[in-house]
Amino acid sequence: MTVGWAPADLGLARGRPDSRGLAEALRTAIRDGRLPAGSRVPSTRALAQELGVARGTVTRAYDQLITEGFLLSRQGAPTTVAERLAEPDPVDAPPSPAPPAARWDFRPGRPDLSAFPRRDWLAASRRALRNIPADDLDYGDPQGHPLLREALADYLARVRAVATAPERIIVCNGYTQALSLLSKALHDQGVSSIDFEDPSAPQLRTIPASLGMAVRGVPVDDDGIDVEQVRSGAVVVTPAHQFPLGVALSSARRMALVQRAKAEDLLVVEDDYDGEFRFDRQPVGSLQGMAPNHVAYAGTASKTLAPALRLAWLALPPQLVEPVRALKINSGLHAPLFEQLAMAELIRSGAYDQHVRRSRAAYRKRLELLGTALDDLRANHRPHPAGISAGLHITLQLDPEGPTEREVLTRAREHSVELEVLGPHWVRAGARPPGVVVGYAAPAEHAFRPALQALVAVLQR
Ligand SMILES: Cc1ncc(COP(=O)(O)O)c(C=O)c1O
Repeated sequence: MTVGWAPADLGLARGRPDSRGLAEALRTAIRDGRLPAGSRVPSTRALAQELGVARGTVTRAYDQLITEGFLLSRQGAPTTVAERLAEPDPVDAPPSPAPPAARWDFRPGRPDLSAFPRRDWLAASRRALRNIPADDLDYGDPQGHPLLREALADYLARVRAVATAPERIIVCNGYTQALSLLSKALHDQGVSSIDFEDPSAPQLRTIPASLGMAVRGVPVDDDGIDVEQVRSGAVVVTPAHQFPLGVALSSARRMALVQRAKAEDLLVVEDDYDGEFRFDRQPVGSLQGMAPNHVAYAGTASKTLAPALRLAWLALPPQLVEPVRALKINSGLHAPLFEQLAMAELIRSGAYDQHVRRSRAAYRKRLELLGTALDDLRANHRPHPAGISAGLHITLQLDPEGPTEREVLTRAREHSVELEVLGPHWVRAGARPPGVVVGYAAPAEHAFRPALQALVAVLQR
């Protein structure tokens, strides 16, 4: 042989390889430098003999590698390892390992994922898949499948007093995309500034900000957003359960906001992220129902089912349907069809309502347990819960004399507890009372009590 390597160097046992295995062994040896650039490879005859395989096997492997550019073959010259592939690609430094996940998850905005209704979802998926006509597997309506939009229009009217129709609904990949499309549509229409409640979710404010829109913070008190201080052409609100403070928009403020929207052509974006979860009374209906032509309603499956579904829905004023639909086309057309149809079937069959009812009962119980644990703590001074009895999270105001947000986060890390603090949620500088945002829905049901103990240990003075 005219080369300095033996088949065993490539991990090839005599008589073993087919052409695909041989090509892969040579490819790997070239990539990792065992076969250096410019080195000659054996003749097909010699290598076939050496390996005890048919010559055609080696020829096919060489041809494959020549086509891929690993080997160079010239008329009258021996076949060699190609130059540019001889050096292995520099391997990027491996990313530093992610910090280990905390044992007890109290991050807000997450439902109990262990309670995802797998059996119902499977049954709904199976039924949907069985019934779907082949034609529906083509590119579909960018607004979402009519079956889901019909189911949503009915559900939202029934449960959230939303006044809409399937034609006004756009199914999105989460509220995150819904807000992104809405912001872009408004920006395209010349709206250069958008108001958010202060505090609010920081990751949502970056969406219009990334388009170059100015983001203003409007103060929130016990009655919700201070409507008189809204200044922009659009305002994003969480009227059913303010995120993160947990208050509800009072009826006087609801009226005032709707009146301003109608009188001043102000667009209200209603983020109804956890509107199904009110524990002390029937949920207050949506704001959208009071002014369907001025309020863009948004709901999501992220809190009722799971964020991984990436399913949310907009019920839009008529003038926004076409612009948002056009933007939805540009951002990947419609949401994945099977998820849409399973969701439609889940709603249609009543399994969704049932799941929401079950979840509501479970979260109410958790909030009670949390309240009792906090009462014990409060005898020992604070922290103080804010807001109504609703949703998947509670904000605890910290005693200014007590531990700071940073200290709470440090203690949380020590106890392997994950939670958030209020700090990053504020928009304006100035009065930024400290607090902790606790998502009590996130721990799995069986782990809730030990998780609560860990949380109490963090908050204990
Ligand atoms: C205030 C608020 N609204 C809506 C959402 C839902 O977003 P998505 O539907 O993209 O999961 C979240 C998620 O954390 C949120 O915090």
